[in-house]
Amino acid sequence: MLSYQHSYHAGNHADVLKHVILGDLVAGMQKKETPLFLLDAFASRGIYDLDSPEALKNREFDTGVGKLWPLRHYKTPEGVARWFALITSENVDGGFVRFPGSTAMLHAMTREFDRLAACDLHPQEFEGLRQSFNSSRRFSLHKRDAFEAIKGLLPPKEKRGLIFLDPSYEVKDEYRDIAKAVTEAHRRFASGVYVIWYPLLPAERHNDLFKELKRSGIRKILRVELDCGGCFPEMQMSGSGLLIVNAPWHAQQAMQESLNWICDHLTEGKGNKHFGWLVPE
Ligand SMILES: C[S@@+](CC[C@H](N)C(=O)[O-])C[C@H]1O[C@@H](n2cnc3c(N)ncnc32)[C@H](O)[C@@H]1O
Repeated sequence: MLSYQHSYHAGNHADVLKHVILGDLVAGMQKKETPLFLLDAFASRGIYDLDSPEALKNREFDTGVGKLWPLRHYKTPEGVARWFALITSENVDGGFVRFPGSTAMLHAMTREFDRLAACDLHPQEFEGLRQSFNSSRRFSLHKRDAFEAIKGLLPPKEKRGLIFLDPSYEVKDEYRDIAKAVTEAHRRFASGVYVIWYPLLPAERHNDLFKELKRSGIRKILRVELDCGGCFPEMQMSGSGLLIVNAPWHAQQAMQESLNWICDHLTEGKGNKHFGWLVPE
């Protein structure tokens, strides 16, 4: 399939939530000075051009980074400040045209003893990744099916890892497929932190993902979600969320503060946020 291109959506409200929370999670795991393996299984191109015809088509970034950018000099929660700093580091002129995606966030946070792998199957997206980053012993790029990579790369030799799953959900079965892939990976690498992004769309297919994961027997699944409450009627996607298997305790306060801040500033209090266990310990 692979017709999806994230450049059309880059910088929107869902990207804000996913990249800030992803940073909070990695920072929480890095409180331990032991090596970490990070896998960005659905990486896309790493850095997006918000001046491109694709990004300008629907200007989805106006619902996210465009709305928050004027607040970058104010005091914000740590996770939001980290995200602003990353965008600033990519844009010498003070703008946000070069918009860093999940791989850029993970790449920036990788310590010298951590390892990062990023996969994308789309030829153009993979080429974008290759142009944005140099691969090295610590950072590998894979033009590879994410489902196959999860099988092949887990469990990691570091025995500590975060697996970020951000599929395009082009086919409705993908909600179930992701749950099945996590269930299978969890059997082989039970201590891994699995982070699954999902959209809130009118068809509410994220419920299939929830159902399947609840049935899997996996415990300790945190749900971090923001429904923008009709603030962006031009978009089908009213909000988004992340399910986090084995959510690290050290990151929970930071994530909650980030979610509150994003909700307050993106939706002016009109949004609904959810921070709690889908499945408790
Ligand atoms: C939502 S985008 C990822 C956005 C990115 N994580 C970010 O936050 O910057 C999903 C990406 O997954 C890729 N993709 C879809 N199915 C895939 C598969 N089975 N294996 C590898 N990549 C896939 C698509 O080409 C697309 O670039």
